[in-house]
Amino acid sequence: MVGARLITGSDGYLGSRVTKTLLESTDAQLFLWVRASSSSEFEQKKNSMTDILDLRSKDLRRVEFYSGNLTEDGCFATIDPTAVSNIIHLAAVTRFNVDEETARSVNLEGTARVIEFAKNCRNLERLCHVSTVYASGKRSGVIDETPVTGSDGFANHYERSKWAAEAELIDKCVGIPWSIVRVATVLADDVTGQVSQQNAVHNTLKLLYYGLLSVIPGDASTPLYLVTGEFAADAVIAVLRSGEDSGVYNAAYKRNQCITLGDFVDTAFATFETDSSFKKRRILKPLYADISSFSMLSEAVTGFGDGIMKQAVSSVSPFAEQLFIDKDVKNDRLLKILPHYNPPDARDLVAKTCQYLIQTKWGRASEVVSS
Ligand SMILES: NC(=O)c1ccc[n+]([C@@H]2O[C@H](COP(=O)([O-])OP(=O)(O)OC[C@H]3O[C@@H](n4cnc5c(N)ncnc54)[C@H](OP(=O)(O)O)[C@@H]3O)[C@@H](O)[C@H]2O)c1
Repeated sequence: MVGARLITGSDGYLGSRVTKTLLESTDAQLFLWVRASSSSEFEQKKNSMTDILDLRSKDLRRVEFYSGNLTEDGCFATIDPTAVSNIIHLAAVTRFNVDEETARSVNLEGTARVIEFAKNCRNLERLCHVSTVYASGKRSGVIDETPVTGSDGFANHYERSKWAAEAELIDKCVGIPWSIVRVATVLADDVTGQVSQQNAVHNTLKLLYYGLLSVIPGDASTPLYLVTGEFAADAVIAVLRSGEDSGVYNAAYKRNQCITLGDFVDTAFATFETDSSFKKRRILKPLYADISSFSMLSEAVTGFGDGIMKQAVSSVSPFAEQLFIDKDVKNDRLLKILPHYNPPDARDLVAKTCQYLIQTKWGRASEVVSS
């Protein structure tokens, strides 16, 4: 009998996509694990997932909901470990500006709790851990699909905690088949440019659109590793199905298929210019600052209370250093198991995403206003 797939963070952005695909393409039983600190929060999450996944029209016996918190011992205690054949660990705190303690307790110690649970799953076929290409930290050059040492340091606590979680998994999963899927930053749901969850990239685009960021850190030639949510979820599913030996996969497009920071800004501004209200404001493209000048600016605005300038600079600061680092992320191992690889035109994806963000006013408009 096929065992259950336990999905942590199943109601998160990627978790919902992976869950939906497994629901539609397999008969497997799904254990959907969500963070909840009370029974009412758990009920609310169950109801919302039942709606999102349209579970009422499906075989409900296939789906069981569980809850817990990665920061607490015994957070998987209510799950029968013998029923689980695959664990897909997606739950994490994903903010680039997360504090050190939260990043460690959720992303590192939480992963350690997943591993402890996995050791009790005697029918376990695979523990698939979802990580980020930025677990490679400030390392430049080739980023292979192999473990990274972390010796180049990290731009923020999120990166460090995701690297530490990878190291914990590789060290502790003796005898447990494991996979690590390092996902690049999700720019849009798919090639249409639709955005159902915004992150630091969308926030930066918003600051540029409203003229609140006249200086950005970075080298115009730095490649930006941006992917669609569809590609990221397909990569996780492909790794789950591959049955390959333990190992790392980079869910990113190749370096020459990525947009550079300079092209990203130019494409964004070219798209913003098609919007009459942006055009009227005559906003200029930002100037590029080196890291020491940007750090000085960052320190200077710290004294400005809660000013808009301070908010703008501090929202970019946690990933500023990455905008100078030229990584060559390899994905050959992933491509061997991925059924289809059709990376979108990078400029086109950025332009469509900007169009979507303008039309929806970065999520404030209730629906897309057609232009
Ligand atoms: N999306 C991207 O661009 C991207 C890129 C690279 C890597 N990744 C990786 O992909 C994975 C999924 O990311 P995502 O974008 O889907 O993130 P997300 O939408 O923020 O979802 C994260 C999930 O983790 C849960 N979670 C957070 N803290 C928890 C805790 N203490 N205990 C239990 N669950 C907790 C969240 O629940 P609540 O909402 O209730 O807090 C949510 O369900 C993460 O591991 C992330 O590092 C994502």
